Amino acid sequence: MTEQTLFIVKPDAVARHLVGQIIARFETKGFKLIKLKMFTFTKSQAQEFYSVHSSKPFFGELVDFITSGPVVVAIIEGNNAVATTRILVGATKSYEAAPGSIRGDFGLGISDNIIHASDSKDNFEKEAKVVFE
Ligand code: CMP
Repeated sequence: MTEQTLFIVKPDAVARHLVGQIIARFETKGFKLIKLKMFTFTKSQAQEFYSVHSSKPFFGELVDFITSGPVVVAIIEGNNAVATTRILVGATKSYEAAPGSIRGDFGLGISDNIIHASDSKDNFEKEAKVVFE
């Protein structure tokens, strides 16, 4: 089923010049790029983007990190995009992520875990509004 999802190359990965390699993973897999931009989150944009985590103890750290430098956000389209993208991205804790996944191959951190991807169609729609509207 063709659907869309969103991913964000986080500040740690942009600073490490991994943008091209990360986008290539999705293009090589067969996804089509629909939208792409580089920007820096404002605090209020980040709080809205991550509002599902607002009650978590790491919320402040999460907002501080995602606003710490430029990110690259993409909307991609393809078969089963939401779930397949989560598989390509790997486990949240990069140090536990399987080799072959993006986090497993490129990172060791939790806040600095290289990439974010929408975890549902509803969250994709909400997140796309925050970053593209
Ligand atoms: P992401 O996929 O962007 O979605 C929410 C983020 O919260 C997650 O990646 C991590 O970067 C971050 N996160 C999850 N758990 C923790 C934690 N225990 N401590 C700090 N950050 C966390």
